[in-house]
Amino acid sequence: LETEADKISYVFKVVVIGDSAVGKTQLLSRFAKNDFCLDSKSTIGVEFQTRTVNINSKVIKAQIWDTAGQERYRAVTSAYYRGALGAMLVYDVTKRQSFDHVARWVEELRAHADTSIVIMLVGNKADLVDLRSVPTEDAVEFAENQGLYFFETSALTGENVEQAFFKLLEEIH
Ligand code: GTP
Repeated sequence: LETEADKISYVFKVVVIGDSAVGKTQLLSRFAKNDFCLDSKSTIGVEFQTRTVNINSKVIKAQIWDTAGQERYRAVTSAYYRGALGAMLVYDVTKRQSFDHVARWVEELRAHADTSIVIMLVGNKADLVDLRSVPTEDAVEFAENQGLYFFETSALTGENVEQAFFKLLEEIH
């Protein structure tokens, strides 16, 4: 009898990082459970969720790790990044500061993660059109310079969430 576990070809660990309150937990809930919560509490410690997907006719179990963006919880680094093949680096398109900090998050990845890690830059909360403070072009330019993939998403509406996760998983080899 073939079980679900037998069909899985690979387990890919992906980490979600970025400043506090940019929507990391909600992006993950949207992808893993197609769920969204407006009064999401700040993450304490580290949690992960999984979703099994088909990519290039392989069954991939994505094991996606979520941690607090708050500085005071950030003692986890090495263990958190160990074995990660992909990273979702999230900022909030309505919070300029969260975009200004993206360079620091890239440095942290370069310092602690595997050199071959695939990085997807994600500008979340794209549904808040009237509150936008980060132009798409700024992020496109940054992503090109740093060799990152890039999507703008909304965990609230679901816009581009599948696309961003699938592209990231497809680029992991
Ligand atoms: P930490 O755990 O503190 O690092 O925060 P986080 O990055 O995990 O943020 P979280 O997912 O908890 O979301 C923070 C707030 O933003 C919550 O009130 C969410 O409901 C809201 N939020 C998340 N994504 C979106 C989005 O795409 N659009 C809108 N309008 N609100 C969002």
